[in-house]
Amino acid sequence: MKKILQITDTHLDEELTTHGYDVYGKLSLVLRETIEKEDFDLIIFSGDITDKGSLKAYQWLAEKTKKYQDKIIWMAGNHDNIAHMEKALNFPFRVKLEKNKLNYQLNLNGVNILCLDTSEKSLSLPQINWLIESTNENTITFIHHPPMICGSGYMDKNHSLQNQEMLTEKLLTNPNKLFRFFCGHYHQESCFLHKNIQMFLTPSTMFQIDKYKPYFQISNSQSGYRIIEIYQDKSIKTYCNYIHIN
Ligand SMILES: [Fe+2]
Repeated sequence: MKKILQITDTHLDEELTTHGYDVYGKLSLVLRETIEKEDFDLIIFSGDITDKGSLKAYQWLAEKTKKYQDKIIWMAGNHDNIAHMEKALNFPFRVKLEKNKLNYQLNLNGVNILCLDTSEKSLSLPQINWLIESTNENTITFIHHPPMICGSGYMDKNHSLQNQEMLTEKLLTNPNKLFRFFCGHYHQESCFLHKNIQMFLTPSTMFQIDKYKPYFQISNSQSGYRIIEIYQDKSIKTYCNYIHIN
């Protein structure tokens, strides 16, 4: 069995806190409970690693995770700065689909893993075509923005992927392919199935947003992360864990 750890929306800043949250302390605790306790085959930071693209924050994280650098994928979210990420981090699985974006592909235990950059809040046509062409029967895709609206009042209305309608339409016209997405960005745990599109939303390490409210409301300040297990027969098990801290 191979094990993937997804950590998302850590929102590290130039200062030690972000909007009053001890983001460095929270992430450190998550790392202590995960990679410092057991072996992971792949660690994916799925975007909004920093709150304002701070170079110092990427450098801190690079140092903190140095031991694991060959198996980390650094994805950019809408809060990140790719130029600063390129200065501080390594990108072992990067594909040259688009020069200024951080897209990745690798194979883990026969499972094809794709990672799509939505730091510009949308997906480009080359990315969409690449996603559709590269998706086989054993593919999972990591993407910062959920590719469809998914019943989350405030986030769907205000912060969804800009061209999600066009993307959804294209995915639905390939009904023989199952598109399985692991996302961040919404700061909440959720799962969603529509025809051949499946999405798993992963909670943030900073705070969670109430998915039932049409306005912005923090539901709690637990730190969450997701585990994805890939078995010999290429089947997948996934779940989220939380650490209770204030
Ligand atoms: Fe985001």
